[in-house]
Amino acid sequence: MDITPDIKKRLEMLRDKYAAIGQDLNSYLDGLIYANPIVYWDYIEVDALLSLQKPKTDFPDEKIFIVYHQITELYFSLIEHEIHQICHNGKVISDGGQDLGWNETLSSDFLLSRLKRCNLYFDTLIRSFDVMRHGMEKEQFTKFRMSLLSSSGFQTAAYRRIEIAATDLKHLVHEEDRERLWNDNIHEQLDNIYWRRGAIVADTGEKTLTLKDFEEKYLESFHNFADDYQPINIWKKFCGLPKEERDNKLLLKELKQLDVNVNINWPLVHFRTAVHYLAKGTGKEKGTGGTNWQKYLPPKFQRRIFYPELWSEQEKKDWGRKWVESVLN
Ligand code: HEM
Repeated sequence: MDITPDIKKRLEMLRDKYAAIGQDLNSYLDGLIYANPIVYWDYIEVDALLSLQKPKTDFPDEKIFIVYHQITELYFSLIEHEIHQICHNGKVISDGGQDLGWNETLSSDFLLSRLKRCNLYFDTLIRSFDVMRHGMEKEQFTKFRMSLLSSSGFQTAAYRRIEIAATDLKHLVHEEDRERLWNDNIHEQLDNIYWRRGAIVADTGEKTLTLKDFEEKYLESFHNFADDYQPINIWKKFCGLPKEERDNKLLLKELKQLDVNVNINWPLVHFRTAVHYLAKGTGKEKGTGGTNWQKYLPPKFQRRIFYPELWSEQEKKDWGRKWVESVLN
């Protein structure tokens, strides 16, 4: 094979790339000579991935429960990956594939395309949630669930970070205290975030072990995360765009869709599943360790809204009811 001008150009690009970091191109070319081609199973870490399901019981359906939670965690991590880029204005990558840092300002095109991705991931999760509802035998679930106490999907840290990076914390304060803490500092608001009143013992109002464990493991990291992300959250990024770009209908639609996906659609499919397995008719049955889940999980009770400025008074009043969704379509 001849050394064509095209190959020469690539070699020059490589030389410049390594020179920029004080490295010698020849050594890296030697590395290429000795390296094996990449194979799918190593790159994707298939063996490691498939070794991560460790059921605690012999019920076959427990594997489905674990895998679907893991799938959800992976999608959440993709959503966080997009949000991270939105909040930092998007990466600049050179023709040679090098990371040149973050853009100085956020472009509305970038925001739009990344919000679309976040919504695509949420839509996928919402559509697939029936794997949890129809994909396991109730008899098996209700038994193996008892071996998993006091763990709960409630302890999903990614969901909490997505919320903190999506909006101003005042919108996530428990509804009873929202007005009182509206202008308070973010740490006071975080200490009164809605979910700290979820997973409490329905009868006594005490925190469950589920909540205590979760707070012990993550609360401090959420405060640090809030310090980093509150000044650059998605809403602040949107507000920083020029007026004519903020009026872009497509952008507004994606922002509203994110609001509905995180605060209504996903919570609704999840709640429907919780009802399917945990409620038997009287409404008084214990869920996971007797928590207040029936009062806590329905979106129309929590009334979390990321972007109230984008909704009419009537839409906010009816938050969590079916028509909000149909308005978007
Ligand atoms: C059979 C399937 C499921 C049932 C019966 C169920 C049940 C529950 C219940 C009862 C709660 C309230 C807290 C508690 O009492 O523990 C809860 C919270 C939660 N679960 Fe699930 N869950 C299921 C699947 C999932 C999956 C697949 C995920 C994905 C990671 C998930 C994530 C969450 C989250 C994020 C919360 C907190 C919601 C909030 O704060 O509004 N759950 N779940």
